[in-house]
Amino acid sequence: MAEGEHSLDLLTIEGGRPLKGDISISGSKNAALPILIATLLTDEPCGVKNVPSLDDIEAVIGLLVFLGKNVVRQRDRLDITAGPTLYGEAPYELVRKMRASVVVMGPLLARLGKVKVSLPGGCAIGGRPVNIHLEGFKALGASIQLEEGYVTAEANRLQGTSFTLDFASVGATENLMMAASLARGTTLLIGAAKEPEITDLADFLNHMGARITGAGTDTLTIEGVERLHGTEHEVIPDRIETGTYMIAAAITRGDLDLHPARPEHLRELIAKLGQAGVSVDQDNGHLRVKGVKDLHPVDAETAVHPGFPTDLQAPWMALMSLARGVSHIAERVFENRFMHVPELQRMGARIQVKGPHAAVEGVDSLSGAEVMVSDLRAGAALVLAGLAAEGKTVIHRVYHLDRGYEHLERKLSAVGARIRRSQE
Ligand code: EPZ
Repeated sequence: MAEGEHSLDLLTIEGGRPLKGDISISGSKNAALPILIATLLTDEPCGVKNVPSLDDIEAVIGLLVFLGKNVVRQRDRLDITAGPTLYGEAPYELVRKMRASVVVMGPLLARLGKVKVSLPGGCAIGGRPVNIHLEGFKALGASIQLEEGYVTAEANRLQGTSFTLDFASVGATENLMMAASLARGTTLLIGAAKEPEITDLADFLNHMGARITGAGTDTLTIEGVERLHGTEHEVIPDRIETGTYMIAAAITRGDLDLHPARPEHLRELIAKLGQAGVSVDQDNGHLRVKGVKDLHPVDAETAVHPGFPTDLQAPWMALMSLARGVSHIAERVFENRFMHVPELQRMGARIQVKGPHAAVEGVDSLSGAEVMVSDLRAGAALVLAGLAAEGKTVIHRVYHLDRGYEHLERKLSAVGARIRRSQE
């Protein structure tokens, strides 16, 4: 849905009830998005399973169809086949809704030799530049033009090269890995992102016939091939959804069993929850989290993987708002990712922000209030705070949450939350 068409739904939560029971984890949004876009690299049919039903996924399906693909969804499986023509232009009204669309550049440049994509523009959490993406395409031999908010990249045939990323950007690593898969010769991406979603994309590309090694390390080696073929793939579970529900168990002093889960994708969060006094047990694909009465304050500083995930910074701050003492949280990945702070303060949290630092002085309890979601993970923090708070919390602009949490209120109600959706 384009901006403004969003259903202005509300979530109303009666807080103070411990969550108990099982929650099933959906497929990873941030793995599924680049994997669906990678199907642009072949005209052969691809089948992708464990794809969550989220607004961001619907947006990327719309973009793929616009670019010439046919997409059929059957429950959590998408079948993607090629139409008669592959188009090389991604317009503003499609890209601005979901900035990860910029990752179509790599595949389209590699397949068509020319691509025109609207610059994604910023969002609530930052300017979201794409300079590293563009520097990488230039290094692969493309010429880049920027005009009227669009970027055009052209190259007869991309030429393998060695490129060092200034920052381990997830999107830039995905874009360049896909472009290099069809380049002539071998490409080294140095300082590449190591997130599990990168590894899942590399696995998908290798099953398509690409030759990528080093996924999960900071140096990717991509040996270009002539063409890629169709394949089947199952997307990894969503580690940020998993982390969010782990924190939900902790903040409500509940007891949740999350499955399927990949503890190896969440080592840093598991360690921090342990330091806070929360018990986390892992047992073949299950994560069992039990909250405690007295939470210890634990500092957190976000970093690229395997550091503390920036997408769990806001949820962690909600949890630390109820710890017995002061914790320090630093946001090192995005330049403006504290929009949840004023909303948490309205609920009684004591937080002092100075630049990228937030000092959180835990309080005995939060109180329900009317709050507004600014971005996806800030929204998650407000839901978590509402679940723990005394009284009623009304959450506005829920559409942000629908981008990244599949069946949110259904999953929470099933484990005892009093949460319901209504219209503004
Ligand atoms: C991905 O965004 C995720 N989105 C984000 O999740 C996540 O927060 C982020 O990685 C970091 O882990 C998807 O995977 C769809 P980046 P991405 O490029 O690729 C700067 C969520 O909530 N940068 O690693 O856009 C940038 O400004 C979303 O699910 C440049 O300066 O993240 C930012 O400060 C939010 N130049 C930092 O790097 C560039 O060319 C991290 O950005 C590219 C990035």
